[in-house]
Amino acid sequence: MKRLKIIIDTDPGVDDAAAILMALASPELDVLGISVVAGNVALQNTVINACKIVNLSGRHDVPVYAGAAGPLVRQQVYGKYAHIGAFDDEIADIGNIKPEQESAVDFIIRSAKAAVTSGEQITLCSIGPMTNVALALIQHPDVRLGIKQIVSMGGAFTAMGHRTPWAEFNIYADPHAGDIVFKSGIPIILMPLDMTFQALLTQSQMETFRAGGKAGQALFDLFTAFDRSDPNRLGREGGPVHDATVIAWLIKPELFKGHETYVGVQITGLTMGYTYADFYNKLNHVPNALVMTEIDEAGFLNLLTERIAGYGAVHHNGEKQP
Ligand code: RIB
Ligand code: CA
Repeated sequence: MKRLKIIIDTDPGVDDAAAILMALASPELDVLGISVVAGNVALQNTVINACKIVNLSGRHDVPVYAGAAGPLVRQQVYGKYAHIGAFDDEIADIGNIKPEQESAVDFIIRSAKAAVTSGEQITLCSIGPMTNVALALIQHPDVRLGIKQIVSMGGAFTAMGHRTPWAEFNIYADPHAGDIVFKSGIPIILMPLDMTFQALLTQSQMETFRAGGKAGQALFDLFTAFDRSDPNRLGREGGPVHDATVIAWLIKPELFKGHETYVGVQITGLTMGYTYADFYNKLNHVPNALVMTEIDEAGFLNLLTERIAGYGAVHHNGEKQP
């Protein structure tokens, strides 16, 4: 099987942890590296959390790169769990994983240029504010030639944001970066809140994570510690796993339905970060994104829980995975 070369740009983040662990357990994907950005929490803690997740996965071959500490233009905002900082050592220890010396932006630029030379383009999985991606695009015009597609968790069109009434967090945290990416001309596959809120992980499904060895237990502990359910808003039990939908699409795109459309973002004024999707082509713009509007909830959650449980599988040499 030809493995898809991907870079995960992330602001871990509990749902980022699920996405990264899922990707590192998926043979379909060749994770070239993890580039980290400030977002859910400050950069020093998103870097620590990314290293902890790599240590949990046992995939010590996957490098971590520190990126932008703040957005391009607007003042810094963090996620609603900003106070959590780094994941508790009791839940996930960092082992001896450290970030590389090279910056995340330089890593993305270097990888994209190498992809142009090799002819094997990279898929960028953006599951945090898009600052690193935008900076790479700004700094070297050839970067876009090395990137096959950007699969991004971001935006909200009918399901209004949960960090502010008008915006989804990743775009809200750096709307100017989002604007650069949406206008880059690179094919974008977008996983907005409208779709990610359709798939809610319940307590009993979370329990199945615990079959996944140390990694699965840690993910269970993280999802338990930071309860993401909101029955008053969502109308039923369970919480979203926003970022993991990006990885699920790479593995099983048939779990999703979407529409090619033009997506834009507001970059000024009070409602900075507001995203719109011109589903009925009122603006007559060329579509710049495939916006996912539906998800097979059971299929997605089964894929997620199956991949996480895989960390508990017996190792090829007969020993239990870490
Ligand atoms: O709005 C959800 C997004 O914001 C997710 O990527 C979550 O991790 C936070 O970054
Ligand atoms: Ca995230």
